[in-house]
Amino acid sequence: MAMEDKIKELENRNLEAELGGGQKRIDQQHAKGKLTARERIDYLLDKGSFQEVDRFVVHRCYDFGMEKNKFPGDGVVTGYGTINGRTVFLFAQDFTVFGGSLSGPFGDKVCKIMDLAIRSGAPVVGLNDSGGARIQEGVRSLGGYGEIFKRNVWSSGVIPQISVIMGPCAGGAVYSPALTDFTIMVKKSSNMFITGPQVIKAVTSEEVTAEELGGAMTHNTKSGVAHFAEDSDQAALDRVKEILSFLPQNYREMTPIAECTDDPDRTDPSLNEIVPTNPRLPYDIKEIIRTVLDNKEFLEVQKHYAKNMVVGFGRLNGIAVGVIANQPKFLAGCLDCDASVKCARFVRTCDAFNLPLVTFVDVPGYLPGVNQEYGGIIKHGAKIIYSYSEATVPKMTVVTRKAYGGAYIAMSGKHLAADINYAYPTAEIAVMGPEGAANIIFKKEISEADDPNATRNRLIEEYRNNFASPFRAAELGYIDQVIFPENTRPRLIKALTMLKTKRTSIPERRHGNVPL
Ligand code: HXC
Repeated sequence: MAMEDKIKELENRNLEAELGGGQKRIDQQHAKGKLTARERIDYLLDKGSFQEVDRFVVHRCYDFGMEKNKFPGDGVVTGYGTINGRTVFLFAQDFTVFGGSLSGPFGDKVCKIMDLAIRSGAPVVGLNDSGGARIQEGVRSLGGYGEIFKRNVWSSGVIPQISVIMGPCAGGAVYSPALTDFTIMVKKSSNMFITGPQVIKAVTSEEVTAEELGGAMTHNTKSGVAHFAEDSDQAALDRVKEILSFLPQNYREMTPIAECTDDPDRTDPSLNEIVPTNPRLPYDIKEIIRTVLDNKEFLEVQKHYAKNMVVGFGRLNGIAVGVIANQPKFLAGCLDCDASVKCARFVRTCDAFNLPLVTFVDVPGYLPGVNQEYGGIIKHGAKIIYSYSEATVPKMTVVTRKAYGGAYIAMSGKHLAADINYAYPTAEIAVMGPEGAANIIFKKEISEADDPNATRNRLIEEYRNNFASPFRAAELGYIDQVIFPENTRPRLIKALTMLKTKRTSIPERRHGNVPL
């Protein structure tokens, strides 16, 4: 064969591979409002940076006439490239080839780039759009999933892993995204479930649509499986880029530092007005968070789930940080099972990737209720204590108002090795709220008074003034500084600058036994 012919063959093979399952199926994909696997990669990566691996791999299945039905690449596009100049590895399931279903060689391709990613210490992004196990391949396909899951676990805490769900993701296939750090779902076109609507109907007689069962909003509001819900493929891919901008390439690298265009000494008198003096009045903790962060930019994670807890990313003087906060606007900021899991998971994610923690506290306590107790608030609440105690990144805490009881300790209190603890003058730090406390310790006095109500109110007020303040805690050194709210940003930045060189560790062990 002449050189020209050899080059022609390569060109033809490339064209064939680039067409995936063919123009008709590409048109069908577009008709559903979805991009193809290659279009998604083009959109996500820096222009011209994509280096494809294994574009000519085909399946080796000889059952059901499959030997006559082969497509180069076999339903997944894999490789590496850059996002804002930083290396990422990725795989994009190609729904136009056998519905993006996973064969043995498909699994091998994904594993190959996961192995490369771990060796080179760079993130993996998985774009999921698949009918699940390749039915014609049988157990070989299951083996492929198992190999991927194992690598997801081995990569956990070593390199960031982000999953985007851009079509179906069903059965055991959901466990790869579930093992990664962040799951982004595209509204309307994606769903995730272990067993689909038909199986559920047959087994439990429940009738439910795929969207209700496992659509983007279901997993963002009810189950907490997903962290983001986006309107389109493009919006979901933009979110990937934004998340990666806050994360290091791997656990050995420090948190990324961006150029800071906001004054690190910026004070803001509006902060003096946000927390109401009446402890019963709610306010939006996100106002405080935004005001304090660089350029008032806050990327909220899981914003639709357990709204009494707020978590997300921001920057202080250019340094990426994780922010955790109680939200007095919902359930008075109480800790319940869902909020506890949300908080603990985020704290552990940040600690794994060297992101300092900034915690804003306004928490009346754990949510009382039979459902909460039966639901395991003891073990879920323990997760918060576990995650903060185990975290060795810089930890800064600001008590804006209530910090009562066990919740005072759990929310990055001094005793869980927080580095710097601030309180606003409005802080109320005590073993319990004034009402409860006065009713117990002055029970006799109240019941014997001529006017029990007036006496109760007086004693509650007395307790509040004496004990529900930041000063008892400050006298003990549990609070390092009582600060004027307007100074929150400069104070946090000064602490963060001081903590840049923090080095500490907890006792060695095989691994901790986090209460699951
Ligand atoms: C082989 C598959 C496939 C599969 C879809 N296709 N799923 N081929 N194995 N799992 C093929 C179809 O035959 C079709 O081929 C093309 O992909 C597009 O599928 P359609 O059904 O036409 O598309 P659509 O109507 O959009 O429906 C998508 C779907 C449906 C909801 C995903 O295809 C579906 O229900 N598929 C089966 C899902 C499933 O039961 N998977 C196995 C689950 S078990 P042509 O040639 O016509 O284009 C599992 C276990 C994993 O995944 C365990 C891990 C531990």
